Amino acid sequence: MRRLCALLGEEHIGESITVQGWVHNCRDHGGVIFIDLRDRSGQLQVVANPEFSETFTIAEKCRSEFVIEVRGKLSARPEGTINLDLPTGKIELLADDIEILNESQALPFQMDSTEIGEPTRLKYRYLDLRRPVMQRAIRLRHQIVSSLRRYLEDRDFTEIETPILTRSTPEGARDYLVPSRNSQGHFFALPQSPQLFKQLLMVSGFERYYQIARCFRDEDLRADRQPEFTQLDMEMSFMEESEIMELCEHMIRSLFKTVLDVDLPEPFPKLSYQESLLRFGTDRPDLRIGLELTELTDVMKAVEFKVFANPANNPDGRVAALAVSNGSNITRSQIDGYAEFVAKYGAGGLAYIKINDISQGREGLQSPILKFLPDDVLTEIITRTGVQSGDVLFFGADTRMVVNDSLAALRTKIAMDLGLVDANTLWRPLWVVDFPLVEWDADQKRWHSLHHPFTAPQCEYLDSLNSYPGAVLSRAYDLVLNGTEIGGGSVRIHRPELQQQIFDLLGIGPEDAEQKFGFLLESFKYGAPPHGGIAFGLDRLVAMICGVDSIRDVIAFPKTQRASCILTEAPGLVDRAQLNELGLRTKTNQ
Ligand code: AMO
Ligand code: AMP
Repeated sequence: MRRLCALLGEEHIGESITVQGWVHNCRDHGGVIFIDLRDRSGQLQVVANPEFSETFTIAEKCRSEFVIEVRGKLSARPEGTINLDLPTGKIELLADDIEILNESQALPFQMDSTEIGEPTRLKYRYLDLRRPVMQRAIRLRHQIVSSLRRYLEDRDFTEIETPILTRSTPEGARDYLVPSRNSQGHFFALPQSPQLFKQLLMVSGFERYYQIARCFRDEDLRADRQPEFTQLDMEMSFMEESEIMELCEHMIRSLFKTVLDVDLPEPFPKLSYQESLLRFGTDRPDLRIGLELTELTDVMKAVEFKVFANPANNPDGRVAALAVSNGSNITRSQIDGYAEFVAKYGAGGLAYIKINDISQGREGLQSPILKFLPDDVLTEIITRTGVQSGDVLFFGADTRMVVNDSLAALRTKIAMDLGLVDANTLWRPLWVVDFPLVEWDADQKRWHSLHHPFTAPQCEYLDSLNSYPGAVLSRAYDLVLNGTEIGGGSVRIHRPELQQQIFDLLGIGPEDAEQKFGFLLESFKYGAPPHGGIAFGLDRLVAMICGVDSIRDVIAFPKTQRASCILTEAPGLVDRAQLNELGLRTKTNQ
């Protein structure tokens, strides 16, 4: 019977053992051959002695990644050869018999190398996945998914699959389309999320649904975005946002306890969208970083320095400062580097003030912009930011969006550069709440949803929906962990009149609404319960728990940044007959 390598221990010494697996590496030590054999459990050292000449000859033929079977006697390693870093470091298998089950060509990369280029890893993904680091990540992913499943099943959630060939779902990205052969000229859209179906399931009375759901979004890709990704998708009836958040928070807390033995804070702090932007310039702040922004718009309205006064007097403008404790030893050239960095976010410059000696007033400050700022303004800046000698202030002055984006990014960059991320507090989750329901899109001259059009407004704003749409807050919530949005959801609209009113506000006319979401509106006429839900980005959650930067490292077969698969060479061309069958013609294949 086959045994697993790393499950063998000193208690098995003396037993006759059979193991099968891959040759991790072979070493010829002056006549004795050592083979590290690897299977799904880990590694075991196999020893081939020249005394068993037939076996030894086979051992000599073994190369990395050959698949072999070894029979032999398990024994204790001789004194001095014990390796305490390995779980099987005190034992070895003395081979009586070795059989080569399959050979392997030389690999395109070294298994143990840490510098394999990503294109090579993706082309030979099946080999990349053999590497212990990838095995660990994919197994951890499985463990996370089973822990979440167990949690939800214990609480009466039903897992229900929803269609992949469907209609467009409004999550704001471009759709992936699939042409229909039966209805030529018509297309399915792959779901950007199961949003519409999970709401229908609430109308159907399931009350508690979940799904490990594949979502498809044709959008610009980054390290934490894939065109095809996985959500833990949930929907619940008869629950207020506070109850949904409490359940999810408890689920995430149990997950971290189970897989990492980490106690997350209880409860997770809550921050309003408004406060988050004011203090951190972003709605997904990394709370491990202590640096904060200070509002200075009102202070700068009357200054003569146009760089500050113009945005301060612009209704869409903002002037804010980022205070960095002990930052005054940041050099001039580093500051120039930071100015270039914020320029990527549209900032026109990066004014700064170094606080050399706070007790000396103006004389103790150092900055090219001092001459533009009167004493009372300087005093107010110092009081509000609470800076001390040795600190530095960086200023952003522009539209609110540019100031927020640039100072939020600068905050993270400086924290990384200066090692200001609190290493003792590894995990800082928070809920962001009280999002505006809609945002004005100046380019398209229309309101659009911050989350999606099914998100309910907070009750007290129902009357001002048409008069002050921009001030209406929604019943949405996002879960943010260490600066990454890992989940988002909301209490939904469940009455057709209100849903129609929101569609009107968003410029989705009755005909358009009927065409896109008619079935949902129709379903609401048949006793739709109050409901709400959330979706967690499973890939992001797993990547964070694994401690890797890219979600590609926790997806078995990910796409490249250009949304293609190097392994299968998808997307690929199809032949003309297939296109004809679908009633399609491409520009390159007229
Ligand atoms: P949302 O669009 O916020 O909400 O998505 C939920 C979570 O999914 C993750 N995510 C992604 N992960 C990897 N690659 C992507 N391209 C990608 N896009 C999103 C994020 C995000 O927080 N239907 C709503 C949920 C609801 O209202 O219940 C939805 O999909 O971690
Ligand atoms: P200038 O008058 O353009 O030479 O700018 C004076 C100082 O203000 C320089 O230190 C610039 O980096 C800085 N500055 C210019 N534009 C901005 C801006 N939009 N936000 C913050 N600082 C700026």
